[in-house]
Amino acid sequence: MKRIVSGIKPTGTLTLGNYLGAIKQFVKLQQKMTDCEFYLFIADMHAITTRQVPAELRKRTLDIAAMYLACGLDRERTVLYIQSEIPQQTELGYILQSNVYMGELERMTQYKDKVAKQETSITSSLFTYPALMAADIILYDADYVPVGDDQKQHLELTRTIAQRFNNYYGDFFTVPEPLIPEVGARIMDLQNPEKKMSKSDENDKGYISMFDDEASIRRKIRSAVTDSFGIIRFDPENQPGLANLLTIYASCTDQSIEEIKDQYQDKSYKEFKDDLAEVVVGVLKPIHDAYQTIVKSQELQDILDHGRDIASDYAFKKMRKCKRKIGVGRK
Ligand code: AMP
Ligand code: TRP
Repeated sequence: MKRIVSGIKPTGTLTLGNYLGAIKQFVKLQQKMTDCEFYLFIADMHAITTRQVPAELRKRTLDIAAMYLACGLDRERTVLYIQSEIPQQTELGYILQSNVYMGELERMTQYKDKVAKQETSITSSLFTYPALMAADIILYDADYVPVGDDQKQHLELTRTIAQRFNNYYGDFFTVPEPLIPEVGARIMDLQNPEKKMSKSDENDKGYISMFDDEASIRRKIRSAVTDSFGIIRFDPENQPGLANLLTIYASCTDQSIEEIKDQYQDKSYKEFKDDLAEVVVGVLKPIHDAYQTIVKSQELQDILDHGRDIASDYAFKKMRKCKRKIGVGRK
């Protein structure tokens, strides 16, 4: 059976970008690929590569798990767990650090961006993050990894690491393939459509949080930056703000951008934005309502216990074999 693995970092809030780029895709895949196993985890060990407030981190970890379920995952077929509860993931992360080169890690754009922004106190774990991410994936012999566009480079490095390991020690890890959506892989900031919508943004008008209330969603869409052309067309080069809004519309409704453009060709930006606000509210409100019930439920705890047990079982066996292969320990 093929296995699909993905993760999300519990830093900041969850945005519409996370939903359209990653979570929604995961849910859709689950409906389509009925013969696959789905492993999904909350990457709390990745979160601590930057400073976190402990109580907030713990709360957010559960919030995100609940939000994932609220998005319509099939509970029977999802192995949902928390990264730190599977110590083998971190253990393999360390082993993989010995199979990746400094030069490769230095080329990672996510890391380079942080350095370029001259962020002080860059931790060594932030630098080695891609080795842990590779471990998250190959420990479970994932065949496919659904992610947004920003993770493509990390996935390529994961493949390189897996291949390098296999070449030296003999075939052992499955080399995973990324699955990146055609529409919605890169939702941009509403105030600055040159950069991706990010949960760590200081300007909260730039992103829609999955926890935002209806009024804030409407307000943020209404104040999204567009242009002075006044014509509804898809031109990311010259009308990046509008192109992003069209992408959001298409991705929320599963319509093509072409269709939407035709539908709105004689309409004003205001009419388009008003409708888009309704579309986004229509998507996020039911999720938000479901989230509120799930987050407090015992069921959430039970699902996470179950997920941990299934993932642990695989991880334990795989790591035992892995250590044997590389010659550490007694046997
Ligand atoms: P992160 O929030 O960085 O842990 O990302 C979790 C998942 O959401 C990854 O698969 C990302 O590629 C995806 N993602 C994050 N931001 C965006 C965005 N603005 N547009 C599309 N996908 C995104
Ligand atoms: N690095 C990813 C991000 O920042 C989150 C992540 C961690 C992940 N481990 C993963 C995604 C494994 C897919 C598979 O978005």
